[in-house]
Amino acid sequence: MENSFGSTSVPDLDTDTSLYPPIPAYVEDNYWWAYVHPHAVYFWDRQWLINLVLLGNYKRLCAAVLDGCRRSLPGRTLQVGCAYGNITPRLAQCVEQNGMLDVIDVLQVQLDNLAPKLPQDARVKLHCMDSTALNFDDACFDRVVFFLLLHEQPVTVRKQTLAEALRVLRPGGTITIVDYARPNRFNLPCRLWTSVLEKLKPFASDLWNGEVADWLPTDAGVVCVRRLRFFGGFFQILTFTSDSVTEKR
Ligand SMILES: C[S@@+](CC[C@H](N)C(=O)[O-])C[C@H]1O[C@@H](n2cnc3c(N)ncnc32)[C@H](O)[C@@H]1O
Repeated sequence: MENSFGSTSVPDLDTDTSLYPPIPAYVEDNYWWAYVHPHAVYFWDRQWLINLVLLGNYKRLCAAVLDGCRRSLPGRTLQVGCAYGNITPRLAQCVEQNGMLDVIDVLQVQLDNLAPKLPQDARVKLHCMDSTALNFDDACFDRVVFFLLLHEQPVTVRKQTLAEALRVLRPGGTITIVDYARPNRFNLPCRLWTSVLEKLKPFASDLWNGEVADWLPTDAGVVCVRRLRFFGGFFQILTFTSDSVTEKR
């Protein structure tokens, strides 16, 4: 056991459920079929299925995250929210000797599903934690990664999640966000797919009607240093860093 507050080290798993945060109502109500029920986890955690849901873009999105950090993760990295597929084991492979990857999820069932995918000696810690109330010190992470989380959160939760990510990020650290975006005008297949997603994920339309920067605190003091669009604009990868870094360059 590496930490208090529902944290687990690989391969030990915390069984003291009193330490777990409550499951947020929006997760229970909207995503029971995707994340909460153990049968859902069993059903969805198939690489080909997740790739299908992402219209064949899983590998490409994953590679863009890894390329963004030059496949090297020194210091501390925080992944907010488990994701199906192999992104966490791939991030774990990039962790340097002096580094650590912390992964949080509000659902212990997701962390239990992730743990066996990681090698015994992986420099990874798993924590059952809510993204809106991170039990980490201020400025303790070098980078924070969100892989397709923000579109699943209601706007108030999303704003609080981003505020917490900024709080735990050291000055000059980076926040990388992979998520949906507004598809180009002539990208008809993705435009159709958005209407399906809107039914399954009630808060997702914010991502194609707004800008991620709108949900950052007004005094965030960050700038976007990398912005990529994929698949006719349907996916975006954004990297923000604090102004202090860009000023030094
Ligand atoms: C990061 S997203 C990834 C979704 C994507 N479809 C995938 O698997 O590649 C989903 C995860 O975020 C978690 N999650 C949702 N709300 C959260 C919150 N407030 N705090 C921490 N984790 C949360 C869910 O439990 C779920 O495991």
